[in-house]
Amino acid sequence: MNNLPIGIFDSGIGGLTVLNEIMRVLPNESLIYLGDTARVPYGTRNKDIINKFALELTRFLLKQKVKALVIACNTISAVSLSEIKKVTGKIPVIDVISPTVSFAMNRTQTNVLGIIGTRATVNSRVYDKQVKKKNKAITILSKACPLFVPLVEERMINDKATKLIAEEYLSGFDRSKIDTLILGCTHYPLLTKVINETLGNKVRLIDSAKPTAEELKKVLTKKNLLSNKKPTHHFYVTDIHPKMEEMVNLIFDNNFPGKLEKINL
Ligand code: DGL
Repeated sequence: MNNLPIGIFDSGIGGLTVLNEIMRVLPNESLIYLGDTARVPYGTRNKDIINKFALELTRFLLKQKVKALVIACNTISAVSLSEIKKVTGKIPVIDVISPTVSFAMNRTQTNVLGIIGTRATVNSRVYDKQVKKKNKAITILSKACPLFVPLVEERMINDKATKLIAEEYLSGFDRSKIDTLILGCTHYPLLTKVINETLGNKVRLIDSAKPTAEELKKVLTKKNLLSNKKPTHHFYVTDIHPKMEEMVNLIFDNNFPGKLEKINL
């Protein structure tokens, strides 16, 4: 059981930002990544469709005999976590939201957090609910940024248009007291530079990679599931195009530890 792989999935390639950190924190673990690049983005779709797609991804990974699942996507975590848990039995399922909320709450000094994400994530109000449940004194301001995912998937991370869109989306935070902004979408770490430039250095950006990788390590350690074998990795996607390979190289700083393989779900 310990040497079985961990399944990590996302609607596209954004979840590789989480996988990258998991490889750093847990270098002995074999990983299977699955990105539904043929159908990304999920965040603009309705709940039933997101649940349907999320369960297809989950079932594919369960067939590969994984020992744990990481939902490296805020949209799927926000909308489909309970549906996914209905089919995963005893396998631990780690989502990106809960570890990131705790991480951000421990860092705010002003007690005002911001969160940006896809429309589905923001409309679910999962972040607001989790923050309020843990500490009523913390205020959370949210903003959906639906164009950010296609801009990342198109590799438009340094374009003028992206800067203008960021200014438009983030202007609502200007007169707020936020000192910490949760990048509530696993694609957004690729826009860190433009978001930082727009908000200025008084706002600390938190992405889900580190808290999620740490949570995974904690869970595997507690359940005695850590691997002791040389790892192997697989990277499955449902479509491949040249822009995507450029983005993957960017995420891994030109050291992508494998190759993208196209599969049918
Ligand atoms: N990486 C996904 C997330 O974290 C992208 C969402 C989408 O597919 O729209 O929400």
